[in-house]
Amino acid sequence: MKTIAEILALSTTFLAEKGVFRPRRSAEEILSLILGVKRMDLYLQHDRPLIEGELEAIRPLLKRRAAGEPLEQILGEIEFYHCRLAVTPNVLIPRQETEILVDLVVKKLNERPLAGKTLWDICTGSGCIGLGLKKALPQLSVSLSDLCPKALAVAKKNAEANGLDVDLRQGDLLEPFFGEAADFIICNPPYVSKNEYEALDPGVRDFEPKGALLGGERGDEFYERLAREIPPFLRPGAQIFFEIGEAQGKAVQEIFHSLPWRQSRLLKDWAGKDRFFFLEIE
Ligand SMILES: C[S@@+](CC[C@H](N)C(=O)[O-])C[C@H]1O[C@@H](n2cnc3c(N)ncnc32)[C@H](O)[C@@H]1O
Repeated sequence: MKTIAEILALSTTFLAEKGVFRPRRSAEEILSLILGVKRMDLYLQHDRPLIEGELEAIRPLLKRRAAGEPLEQILGEIEFYHCRLAVTPNVLIPRQETEILVDLVVKKLNERPLAGKTLWDICTGSGCIGLGLKKALPQLSVSLSDLCPKALAVAKKNAEANGLDVDLRQGDLLEPFFGEAADFIICNPPYVSKNEYEALDPGVRDFEPKGALLGGERGDEFYERLAREIPPFLRPGAQIFFEIGEAQGKAVQEIFHSLPWRQSRLLKDWAGKDRFFFLEIE
């Protein structure tokens, strides 16, 4: 019988030969999942022999990873801004940039009283933005919306699993909120252009939903729609936060130029790239 250390080494070699990015990390995560232990325990229990049933459970997951499936989809969940979130092929895998956006918004909103204020997370996917914000700022009344019913079902499951009381709505952009207005609107819409989509890493293009990635021919079409459609949905002094593509800063600023704003700012991610757009309405 082979030990944990031996299987870890063999699995890492197998994944490396298949060209998997960070093969050891993938092997560790898959072994940890199947053995029901933390990654650190793989090393503390390195000489524990694995039984055939465990090996049988590990093999198909290694094959999926070798075929390029994202680790997060294989594991089925991720940690995001103090929430544990299920991830399925129907939702975008929440990215680190998006966690930075949530952190920026938390720091900004923390400065003011929030009781009775409403926040909408449009294009919610897994629910990561709205759920992270509800967890950090529980006084806010938070709504999550998405066009895709399957994505919204994941967001609902994530809200329940994290004990977060949010409102869920299905529909096209702002349509589910017709006749209402919000204090804060956050959106990470699909923003990849057609050419960028074709050039995406196959691990993203072949496994994550096209409808979560492709923004249109140019990529900035969702921002154009939002700029046109958003005004009646804003309370006085409302704040809007968007995630944007790293090359879209100027275009998005221009798109929103005609709104009556008090403050408008492009904010950068940790790599120093324009990644977030913030607007405060008069
Ligand atoms: C880039 S993903 C963002 C998911 C999540 N908010 C995140 O940050 O990880 C975009 C999401 O927008 C949704 N979507 C696409 N078109 C939409 C539309 N017309 N109205 C509402 N949601 C839409 C997709 O289903 C997808 O869940």
